Amino acid sequence: MIARQSRAAIRLGAALLALSVVAVPASRAEPGPDSPIAGEVIEAPLVVTSPDGRLSAVFWSEGGLPRYRVQFDGEDVISPSMLGLRFAVAGNLDTRLWPVDSETTSANTQWELPWGERRVVHDQHNELLVSYRHERDASRGFDVRVRVFDEGLGFRYEVPVPDGEHRAIVDEVTSFAMPQESETWWTPAGDYNRYEYVYRTTPLIDVDTAHTPFTARLPNEGVHIAIHEAALVDYSGMRLDQQREGVLTAELAPGPDGIAVHKNGSFTTPWRTIQVAEEAVGLINSDLILNLNEPNVLGDVSWVEPGKYIGIWWGMHINTMTWGSGPEHGATTENAIEYLDFAAENGFAGVLIEGWNIGWDGDWFNNGALFSFTESYPDFDIEAVTDHARTRGVRLIGHHETSGHLTNYETQMEDAFDLYERLGVTQVKTGYVADAGNLLRIDENGEERHEWHYGQYAVNHHIRVLEAAAARHISINPHEPVKDTGLRRTYPNWISREGVRGQEFNAWGNPPNPPEHTAMLAFTRMLAGPADFTPGIFDLTFNGPDSPNRVQTTLARQLALYVVLYSPIQMAADLPENYTANPEPFQFIRDVPTDWEESIALQGAVGDFIVTVRQERGGADWYLGAATDEEARTLSVPLDFLEAGRAYAAEIYRDGPDAHWHDNPYDVLIETRTVDADTVLDLPLAAGGGAAIRFVAE
Ligand code: NOJ
Ligand code: CA
Repeated sequence: MIARQSRAAIRLGAALLALSVVAVPASRAEPGPDSPIAGEVIEAPLVVTSPDGRLSAVFWSEGGLPRYRVQFDGEDVISPSMLGLRFAVAGNLDTRLWPVDSETTSANTQWELPWGERRVVHDQHNELLVSYRHERDASRGFDVRVRVFDEGLGFRYEVPVPDGEHRAIVDEVTSFAMPQESETWWTPAGDYNRYEYVYRTTPLIDVDTAHTPFTARLPNEGVHIAIHEAALVDYSGMRLDQQREGVLTAELAPGPDGIAVHKNGSFTTPWRTIQVAEEAVGLINSDLILNLNEPNVLGDVSWVEPGKYIGIWWGMHINTMTWGSGPEHGATTENAIEYLDFAAENGFAGVLIEGWNIGWDGDWFNNGALFSFTESYPDFDIEAVTDHARTRGVRLIGHHETSGHLTNYETQMEDAFDLYERLGVTQVKTGYVADAGNLLRIDENGEERHEWHYGQYAVNHHIRVLEAAAARHISINPHEPVKDTGLRRTYPNWISREGVRGQEFNAWGNPPNPPEHTAMLAFTRMLAGPADFTPGIFDLTFNGPDSPNRVQTTLARQLALYVVLYSPIQMAADLPENYTANPEPFQFIRDVPTDWEESIALQGAVGDFIVTVRQERGGADWYLGAATDEEARTLSVPLDFLEAGRAYAAEIYRDGPDAHWHDNPYDVLIETRTVDADTVLDLPLAAGGGAAIRFVAE
């Protein structure tokens, strides 16, 4: 329901609000009488507030410089900051711009996720559209559309450009000025490992160039914010660069010609988003990013199926199998049948098999051009494997490692998806292993060009892959992807992605993920959307407890990951024999669903601990996941999310009294208790530990 108000009423309302809550620096005189916009400039700052009235965004021009600020409970969370775009050739849009028109609307609707953390998403916001125009040319300028929700806001530029004209964006001057005493959690941007870094905890002043989501705790009574973007389509991804102290500036990844974004005709940018929450968990309990994306364009997506999977995978990472051919080749028909049988017997939907196709021999990291996506190694009979899968009621999960050679993949992908469609493969994991900035594309002249994983070309590449896959009812799970900006709403076959320092780093040990990793990811990377983290390692110390090649968590934490780190597809990443040897804890992995009716982050502190509960979609059971950092702690968890008056059998998997991630990670205690919504559960978590609970409704 969109309610339109008259412009005059809005301006009056805005002016009143501005007078009451917002102080902005005085502007210099308006454009002179000769200006084509003389007399049209809106002098009062334009304000839009959240439905609950606590959050406001203010837009104005300071002497021709477009500005905005964001306030929560009357205090700045973003103090006056810049807006604008700069071009290689056309005139810039960052100075001599004045607001000349505005419009507000509001919405209060709900919509359904075909799969997700919850079924029903509420979208309640107030919207302001401000038109900034150039003082010398009224046809030049941009509109800023801002939507303010109770839990944050997003704004984007909508730039009118005459048909047939081109714009080469070299810089976006959007900035985010924050209180200097803020504490921040971030990963470096621009370094070789893309998004796969351990999170840093630093004062704002020590941020260099950071990826988003970028999370901060402000000095304002601990208010938390997270800066990110929504609906990154046909544009270049935004990094945050601290140049002036306390001011993060948007930095767009350049293409090989030095231009960040090429646009023909009028265009809109992705939304720049600022989540704001009183408590850290409020950042997680928000659908802001999804609400700012366009609805599903694929129509009926009942063919997109959440579920759990195993894989011929961990063996390669711990060096007991190889991707390439030879005596230890993992992807053999024989191994495949064994894994498919294990999957069928234990309720898994699919088996990922990597290393099945020609191209892995030698230095595959640097030889993406050699990959075939339709030819198997001779010891992998793909027809026999998929026939066997069909008889067992499970699926082969496809794999396309591109080693970042975009052109080699684009040339073959239609044929590759045709093959998978014919064989009944409905999910494909793709991979873009290449250093950041080093994706390879062969241009129209046959020249090699290098692209960022989050540059405009790569952003569009992912959409092309999704569309080609959707035409064959195939879902895609890219590793080394572009970051998630909520496009799963528009393309529900974007079933998951990596873009996180996942479990594999524990196999490689350089170094392994620290004990705080889960409690950090929940408040940072996971704000973007699902992650294919690949949880569930049971043999945590495969090279001994003191080796860097190990998992720095307890066994109970591995179970908690299935609830804390959301993904509609979840791997049980360990070797089948490690599950067979540990049937009791394995039962939780067998039971836990991957699709949810509702999800709530109950308690937590960034990088310290997190407690999340989720209700099974279409069912009455609830699940809880809790994780702590290197500190042992006992959490007190009221179970008031359960249905009142109903009894539940709580199947609890928690750290035993002597558990510790380093010395005693396998001490797991499994017990069943009867609980209800009035119960307050004490959950002791060991150092590096966690807990997982299934609440079976009685
Ligand atoms: C890196 C991915 O993250 C991992 O899951 C995969 O096994 C390798 N690339 C090979 O494709
Ligand atoms: Ca990876």
